[in-house]
Amino acid sequence: MSGLAGVIAGESAICTCGLGNGLNYRGYDIADLALKCDFEEVAYLLLEGELPNKAQLEEFTAKIVAGRDLPQNVKDVLKALPASSHPMDVMKTATSALGCVEPEQTDFSDQMDKILRLLGAFPSFLVYWHHWHVNGKEIELKSDEPTIAGYILERLKEKKPLDVEVRAMDAMLTLYAEHEFNASTFANRITASTLSDIYSCMTTGIGTLKGPLHGGANEVAIKFVLGFSDVDDALKSVDELFAKKEKIMGFGHRVYRNVDPRSPIGHQLAAELKELPTSDPKLYDIAAAVRDKVKADKGLPDNIDFFGGLIYHYMQIERLYYTPLFIMSRAAGWAAHAFEQRANNRIIRPGSEYTGVEPRDFVPMEER
Ligand code: COA
Repeated sequence: MSGLAGVIAGESAICTCGLGNGLNYRGYDIADLALKCDFEEVAYLLLEGELPNKAQLEEFTAKIVAGRDLPQNVKDVLKALPASSHPMDVMKTATSALGCVEPEQTDFSDQMDKILRLLGAFPSFLVYWHHWHVNGKEIELKSDEPTIAGYILERLKEKKPLDVEVRAMDAMLTLYAEHEFNASTFANRITASTLSDIYSCMTTGIGTLKGPLHGGANEVAIKFVLGFSDVDDALKSVDELFAKKEKIMGFGHRVYRNVDPRSPIGHQLAAELKELPTSDPKLYDIAAAVRDKVKADKGLPDNIDFFGGLIYHYMQIERLYYTPLFIMSRAAGWAAHAFEQRANNRIIRPGSEYTGVEPRDFVPMEER
């Protein structure tokens, strides 16, 4: 019961996680979705329940694209935040600020419009803040680029991304989009259950995702891989960590005890990206050797975060931006859960087992 492990905390028709060791969104296998669809199709599937036809996808995508530009007061908030802010705090604050400027209707009748606006705005929060504080300039947010994956890469690096990078980014967005009652989704669902607004659901999710046991694991995982000079050095260090009973970020999972079904796709994407002239293929060899050793010695599978960090590193993305990228994807899952909770709501309020002192007499201040 510790950590609510094994507790069924509600019903959901969005995702199966761990059934037959797989991962399905609305009944579709994650490998099909990650490798055969754009993330926008997957977001539509999560939010609407079915894959879109061409016309539905165009309309859906057009709303996301239209949501990229930000109101001046949100831009002003982003400018006012310190350059030293954690990018996850930037994302959380900008989400709150947009909620002040464009609040959701209290009857939630505009919930779909609000989440499409946010799916457009999330990449803008990061790229606007980044270019203002790192490059000292205001970046244009409007763009005709139809995919979120292409937009993120193009605006962050200010050059046309390679096809292999856009495909990898798009697949990563799909792999991270939904995962049943994980910590941030459950937290977001609790907020939805109080009938709070969608921006509050999102900021709850962002705050929960920030921690290294959840979204922050891929940042730590790549730092770990980058710390080794070669495979032997890495394997020796893994033995030392095992001896000290320390955890290695990017391994283990509450649900997937044998294999994380997202990981083989991650391995494939990393293997493609390691061939780029800017990539150091030795890092892939180190990561693969660590993956195989941890599995062989402890039976622990690598989760998507272990190779996920390497994939973003090969795309030359700033390490602290990996978890904000996770928001841009998981927000679709969070919103699907918030909508599902709202459609059949009862406030989520579990009980606790009391372990404190017995009832006792109050002691006045002068007698303490
Ligand atoms: N490295 C080394 N040992 C690990 C480990 C890791 N990353 N993850 C789990 N273990 C070990 C635990 O020490 C424990 O060993 P014990 O039974 O000897 O005490 C056993 O495996 C079970 O782990 P536990 O922590 O109980 O699993 P959990 O379901 O509570 O936690 C995670 C799941 C994901 C939080 C946990 O595996 C973890 O902290 N992983 C690293 C962070 C990470 O990658 N998070 C991203 C998840 S997608």
